Amino acid sequence: MLKEKMIEALNKQINEEFYSSYLYLSMSAYFDNIGLKGFANWMRIQAMEERDHAMKLFDYLLSQGAEVKLMEIKEPQHKWDGVKDTIGEALKHEQHITQCINNLVDIAEELKDRATNNLLQWYIDEQVEEEENAREILDKLELIGDSKQALFMLDKDLAQRVYTPITTNE
Ligand code: FEO
Repeated sequence: MLKEKMIEALNKQINEEFYSSYLYLSMSAYFDNIGLKGFANWMRIQAMEERDHAMKLFDYLLSQGAEVKLMEIKEPQHKWDGVKDTIGEALKHEQHITQCINNLVDIAEELKDRATNNLLQWYIDEQVEEEENAREILDKLELIGDSKQALFMLDKDLAQRVYTPITTNE
């Protein structure tokens, strides 16, 4: 059975993940509005993945007979200062989420909650990938500099991303 402190912390993380989804959906709309459909596609899929991250925690709580408390999702930013700024903010946000996951692991360890700790290891691995993905795009943007042509090539590349749902008991 999960301890109250763990349940509360996991419910907070569900909110963080839904906010991440909201933020990336907002970034997707921004990219679409400035004509970068590939970036918009990449961010839209990112938003779908974040929803999956939330649902994995949601299902875990329910599987443990714990109460799920959905909280208000705060309003995300709507506009950014260009492509690099947007992706830079996405990377910063992922670093924040990594910190949240690390804090959850600390709580699970403190409570000797091995089942939750085991679940959180999946998120630890996922965060390494999430940060790497954002950093990779940021590095490419650095290389591209002011070249519109190269930016459109990258946009074409990002249009190729497809959504693969995670299985909740993976
Ligand atoms: Fe669910 Fe991108 O962290």
